[in-house]
Amino acid sequence: MSATLVQGAYVVAGLFFILALAGLSRHETARRGNRLGIAGMAVALVATVLAATFGAGGSGWLGLLLILVAMAIGAAIGLDRARKVEMTGMPELIALLHSFVGLAAVLVGWNSSYEVAPYPTIHDIEVFVGVFIGAVTLTGSIVAFLKLSARIPSRPLMLPFRNWINLGALALFLVLTIVYVAVPEHAVFGRHALLGLVTLLALALGWHLVASIGGGDMPVVVSMLNSYSGWAAAAAGFLLSNDLLIITGALVGSSGAYLSYIMCRAMNRSFISVIAGGFGVEGGTTADDTDYGDHREITAEGVASLLSNASTVVITPGYGMAVAQAQYPVASLTKALRDKGVDVRFGIHPVAGRLPGHMNVLLAEAKVPYDIVLEMDEVNDDLAATDVVLVIGANDTVNPAAAEDPTSPIAGMPVLRVWEATDVVVFKRSMATGYAGVQNPLFFRDNTQMLFGDAKDRVEDILKAL
Ligand code: TAP
Repeated sequence: MSATLVQGAYVVAGLFFILALAGLSRHETARRGNRLGIAGMAVALVATVLAATFGAGGSGWLGLLLILVAMAIGAAIGLDRARKVEMTGMPELIALLHSFVGLAAVLVGWNSSYEVAPYPTIHDIEVFVGVFIGAVTLTGSIVAFLKLSARIPSRPLMLPFRNWINLGALALFLVLTIVYVAVPEHAVFGRHALLGLVTLLALALGWHLVASIGGGDMPVVVSMLNSYSGWAAAAAGFLLSNDLLIITGALVGSSGAYLSYIMCRAMNRSFISVIAGGFGVEGGTTADDTDYGDHREITAEGVASLLSNASTVVITPGYGMAVAQAQYPVASLTKALRDKGVDVRFGIHPVAGRLPGHMNVLLAEAKVPYDIVLEMDEVNDDLAATDVVLVIGANDTVNPAAAEDPTSPIAGMPVLRVWEATDVVVFKRSMATGYAGVQNPLFFRDNTQMLFGDAKDRVEDILKAL
């Protein structure tokens, strides 16, 4: 396959990826965006495999056979995982997949360190940067996977001088890079010792960076690692002289960075303070030992009667709706109420659930009309004039302490001000705290009633009672 044809195919694939990202940014066009992404990846795969096998210096039929066998094994594992994974398990699966990108970048970097390059200084820097970003992504993603899947506690590791440790590691990386570039090509042992040292340093830094981050900041970590994995892929692209990998890596890296910015803004946190870690434990009392008084309970029939008398209803879903898979009865309840003339809308917090857009995906799956699914900022000012708010499996994202109690560990995080509505019904199974481990004073407010039990069962009960 000629080099020009390969480059042409790469440009086409790159365009597909850009169009895919544009499509994925809106509900209405997300499916089309997904299809464009699949098409782009198909073009990229075919061109890359043909270039590696029948391009200049390609490996021929035997190489093609080996690649196809490897792809078949990978595809079988991927299909199996994709079929089995629950929607609630997606964040940890994504974190694990990011770790593979990091590992690939480390391996490509090490492999390239053996090559004799026309511009040795630039090549050496590429190798060092590629290995460094790859190794940080590898261990950072593994720790994120362990935290998100609750295999290790999500509370932050608070080593003394942790910010100095991170800064020191970055400074050491710069020094090692300069020494690596200065060491002559024939000093093979010395150069590999330096590369080994930087690999270990980056592995330790990735582990420490994510281990220091508390549960409340995990949304930013997921998108930050997404960004790192993109830059790791771009670095590998430079080493392999593969333009498409550079383009794709830069697209993933920059869109992940932008998503991290959106997440930080949603949580009123600066990116630096997220990296500095500890959100959810520092500077506040854990509200567990505060006496908020008694909570009130309501039955499904009681909620049905509240809803029958309401003219405006806002539903604020959270992680519990995903756990219960309650989106389908919630969609039926929405339809039933709208058929009776009730104005029903959804208020979606940017970090509700466990991955960006989690609630939007679930509601789209259940065919809830897009135009009634609003973002937090679009609905917050209307909550005071709302008759009933149904908080379905949400907790941290509707916690008034974030807005009203400066000593709260989650103080400053913007939340849905559901307590301003006339009546609030909270669907959950117990009085347990949410992901950030902070007690929620909303449950004890005079206008709040708790509807205990699995959210799906309770919504179905309400539908029967309506
Ligand atoms: P959470 O604060 O996680 O609370 C979810 C609530 O759902 C829990 O209080 C739980 O109470 C309830 N629940 C669980 N299973 C249920 C079921 N089957 N039926 C009914 N209720 C059930 O939810 P949230 O408001 O969506 O907040 C998300 C949190 O996750 C934030 O702290 C956010 O920072 C963090 N986070 C978000 C992301 C992204 S990107 N969105 C990523 C990582 C972490 P019971 O156990 O009493 O039922």
